[in-house]
Amino acid sequence: MSQDYRFLKACRLEAVDCTPVWMMRQAGRYLPEYRALREKHSFWEMCKTPELAVEVTLQPLRRLELDAAILFSDILVPLEAMGSAIEFYEGRGPVVEKPIRSAADLQGLEVIEAREAVPFVMEAIRLLRRELDGKVPLIGFSGAPFTLASYLVEGGGSKQYQHIKTLMYADPETYHKLMAMITDTVISYLTAQIEAGAQVVQLFDSWVGCLGPLDYQEYAFPYNRKIFAALERFAVPTIHFANQGSTLLEQVVAAGGDIIGIDWRQDLGRAWEIIGPQRGVQGNLEPVALFGPIPEIRKRVKRILDQAQGRPGHIFNLGHGILPTTPIDHAKAMIDAVHEFSAS
Ligand code: CP3
Repeated sequence: MSQDYRFLKACRLEAVDCTPVWMMRQAGRYLPEYRALREKHSFWEMCKTPELAVEVTLQPLRRLELDAAILFSDILVPLEAMGSAIEFYEGRGPVVEKPIRSAADLQGLEVIEAREAVPFVMEAIRLLRRELDGKVPLIGFSGAPFTLASYLVEGGGSKQYQHIKTLMYADPETYHKLMAMITDTVISYLTAQIEAGAQVVQLFDSWVGCLGPLDYQEYAFPYNRKIFAALERFAVPTIHFANQGSTLLEQVVAAGGDIIGIDWRQDLGRAWEIIGPQRGVQGNLEPVALFGPIPEIRKRVKRILDQAQGRPGHIFNLGHGILPTTPIDHAKAMIDAVHEFSAS
């Protein structure tokens, strides 16, 4: 039965009755029921309490005809477990209390055994599989090493990525040590998620677009490659999303992933030419397009489906996460249009 899910079929590049769709950040602030729960609990509390994570994961599915659930958590959860204190401040995003800038700063940081270090994540996955049985499959996820290292070194969000690049160029040994530790943590984390029941996993390389191709090859590629190689022993499809990665596309494909996620800055049809017919493609409606009128949203959905040309392996998504102020009925219009226009 579960093998028949539209989303899993598309991940395996099989024919589907219509194109599956989900939204990055679908569990989150654009939903009033999320905001109501969030008023009562801190963000970390929501991530670390399986019952709350389950509830937030299920919230968007009650309103929208989504073809997959994504575990509610955050890419920073394993970093905190590695020993780095991280705070979420209202309106400021996550802040790393002691950024890593030198070899000495690596002390106190350790590779985690995810099953023991973040058991609440696996418990949420097990509970969700029971709740979702017969409905939709569950996506697990992790941040990619470069994106996670950037958080630890920059200390939070960044425009220039000056600190992580300085570490790379001035102290490559420390940079590579940090990346190796994060990579082993990510492998343990995704392996544990798959063993707990995640049916697909997505690697978010949200910040890697700040690297030029030569730097990607030297400083990010080997680590992403190692992660996808380690996951090959599982029959679980993998999605590789490199935000702002259009200039790195061939390298991203070579690093791995059954499905390549693309942002809205590239033409999906042309990207698929580069990606090749052996892989699926996920994307790529501009998130801000959901603020336009519904006829305009429908037109843009149709354009993306036309670019995909009904090829097996297209998974519709936004080109990045849904924004907190998005009107819910516009997200619904997008999802319904995907199903309507692609129905065979
Ligand atoms: O997709 C989903 O619905 C699953 C849950 C999920 C969250 N974060 C929930 C969240 C996922 C997959 C993430 C990934 C994540 N977290 C990424 C990679 C994806 C991307 O957008 O590229 C990144 C870079 C982060 C780090 C992070 N966590 C940021 C930048 C923020 C937002 C800070 C802000 O205030 O704007 C968070 C917090 C966060 N993660 C929220 C949610 C629902 C909002 C927290 C709140 O309620 O205040």
